[in-house]
Amino acid sequence: VTNTIDWADGPDGPAVVIVDQTLLPHSEELVRLGSVAELVAAIQRLAVRGAPALGVAGALGVALAARTSADPGADVAVLRAARPTAVNLARGVDRAAAKLAEGPDAVLAEALAVRDEDIACSTSMGRYGAELVTELLGPAPRLLTHCNAGALACVTGGTALGVVTTLHAAGRLGAVIASETRPLLQGARLTAWELQRAGVPFRLAVDGAGPFLMARGEVDAVILGADRICANGDVVNKVGSYAHALGAARAGIPFLVVAPESTVDMGTKSGADVEIEDRDGAEIVGSVAPAGTPTVNPAFDVTPHDLVTAIVTDRRVVRLDRGETLAGVALGEVRG
Ligand code: MRU
Repeated sequence: VTNTIDWADGPDGPAVVIVDQTLLPHSEELVRLGSVAELVAAIQRLAVRGAPALGVAGALGVALAARTSADPGADVAVLRAARPTAVNLARGVDRAAAKLAEGPDAVLAEALAVRDEDIACSTSMGRYGAELVTELLGPAPRLLTHCNAGALACVTGGTALGVVTTLHAAGRLGAVIASETRPLLQGARLTAWELQRAGVPFRLAVDGAGPFLMARGEVDAVILGADRICANGDVVNKVGSYAHALGAARAGIPFLVVAPESTVDMGTKSGADVEIEDRDGAEIVGSVAPAGTPTVNPAFDVTPHDLVTAIVTDRRVVRLDRGETLAGVALGEVRG
């Protein structure tokens, strides 16, 4: 099994190697990114995406800069700003950049530690999350997920989708609905591809169907990832998440958020303080709407903390529905 993102150092020089997610599900191709400029372009066109994978991309990007660039400091700034919303990117960059004074090998060692920690985080989130889902919903839960929070959003494993595959492996999953995730269709292209390969029973639905399917009693919980979780518990995730949260609240079902501690940003008070990436309207217009149609295209939205049932990380479960807070729940073990 190939990692979604990794480091390679061969005769062609050092590189970050990614699975190019813009080509999925039709073809699975590895792309070698030998410069920070190539990596930044890959991040911006979503060839590598998902908060945890972006953290690893940022760290490995600094390792690349330390080996190849005349001015690593300038590259650090460009990498850090490649996308604004997922806090993991800036954090991955900062962790590796803190080692620049110790030389390229120290930077690479730190970047590889970020990669390896991400793999361990996925396993741990799978365990904490699967236990919570079984406790809340019993042995055959029907879950709805949004965007892609699977192996493709991490090094391998996954956050919310890692919980789904962990449940499936344990024989404790009912069924899954993946929502398409307009406009770039991470659900239809990536989550469907992952679930199909893993042999997980699922159905694909348009984004707007989510709240209605919940109202009709066909979903027991929503489970999805996050790009940033604020100190007050507000969750920033792929646009469309908030609509699912409203649907879940109305239907009286849990809304579960699964993300590593590296996505929890205690320095940001609430969702109102997060920069939401606005992307090119061409993503929406495509070849469908009349050319020149004006658009508004926020890539993420904010789900207020009062709509979130629980936040599951690699080190704890925070039950917001029981009045628990991120500040108030101690970190536990990473469970391997
Ligand atoms: O624009 P993307 O595809 O990078 O957005 C990704 C998401 O919103 C994911 O749900 C989030 O990063 C969590 S992935 C584990």
